[in-house]
Amino acid sequence: MVRKLLALVTITAAAGSLSTGIASAQDAAKGEAVFKQCQTCHRADKNMVGPALGGVIGRKTGTAAGFSYSPLNHAAGEAGLVWDQAKIVDYLVDPNAFLKKFLTDKGQADKATGSTKMTFKLANEQQRKDVAAYLATLK
Ligand code: HEC
Repeated sequence: MVRKLLALVTITAAAGSLSTGIASAQDAAKGEAVFKQCQTCHRADKNMVGPALGGVIGRKTGTAAGFSYSPLNHAAGEAGLVWDQAKIVDYLVDPNAFLKKFLTDKGQADKATGSTKMTFKLANEQQRKDVAAYLATLK
């Protein structure tokens, strides 16, 4: 009986990791659809409510020309936050918490105050991965 149960648990776990494996592939085409939600505030090529996001992957945060960032976001850039896809995936869960953790981990907890102007959160992990892949295509 115990053995049967164990076998069942193993199969379930394997099926679980298989579906996660498939789901975790990043899909820039799907990300383009997700990005529609971002377009309320963002464009690739110009600042709006949010900074221009063309070339954001590989860019130090807080450096879109002519955009006035929050002190919190600016401090994270000064502390060395450079965007890659994995960081964007983490950031979009909760931008405020992400920036504060980054500064705290850099020993700058004193600057981890106030709020980012980026109030949008994206709970769905697959959507975060897809939109990060799409951002990488924006020039
Ligand atoms: C309600 C408006 C709004 C929405 C919607 C929004 N953002 Fe933002 N975003 C901002 C603002 C404003 C900032 C600047 C943050 C600051 O100065 O604290 C920002 C900053 C960013 C940054 C950092 C840019 C840099 O130059 O370092 C990234 C990356 C980003 N947003 C991605 C996204 C993505 C991806 C989406 C959609 C999933 C999204 N945002 C949706 C307003 C928004």
